[in-house]
Amino acid sequence: MTDIKRILVPVDGSETSDRAIEEAIKIAEVYNSDIHILYVANINQLAINACLSDAILEAVTKAGNEILEKAANKVPEKLNVITTSETGSPSVTITDFADEIKADLVVIGSRGLGLVKGVLLGSVSQYVVEHAPCPALVVK
Ligand SMILES: Nc1ncnc2c1ncn2[C@@H]1O[C@H](COP(=O)(O)OP(=O)(O)OP(=O)(O)O)[C@@H](O)[C@H]1O
Ligand SMILES: [Mg+2]
Repeated sequence: MTDIKRILVPVDGSETSDRAIEEAIKIAEVYNSDIHILYVANINQLAINACLSDAILEAVTKAGNEILEKAANKVPEKLNVITTSETGSPSVTITDFADEIKADLVVIGSRGLGLVKGVLLGSVSQYVVEHAPCPALVVK
């Protein structure tokens, strides 16, 4: 890991993903990396095609944009920040996205908004650490 050009930080609006952003910023400041922030709306694509009302879609999109904006606002102006919102399965979408942007590092929270306590990794961080095409840093 000699150069870190692109850091991917998947965010779900949890406090742990806020800490992931903070760690990513520290690394990006050393390497002058671009920070890609990704939010995945966990909606089944079939449901979207079939019958999700415009009002529901709008609310989901708005919530996602707020999470992205809040995360992006933490990044100092001198760093390049790119925000993206996707729909689908968070774990697979995050992994595919890391591949797509040729991320050099993924910085992800250990846990997120899930309610189950007592396990170190959530299902998303566990999948991403296992399948990401690059090194992953898990922030507690
Ligand atoms: N929908 C999402 N979009 C983008 N990043 C996400 C999303 N969900 C989780 N993440 C990332 O993964 C990290 C771990 O969250 P994860 O969902 O694995 O834990 P959890 O919510 O506690 O458990 P689970 O979802 O399995 O009940 C978060 O801190 C965040 O960085
Ligand atoms: Mg979760």
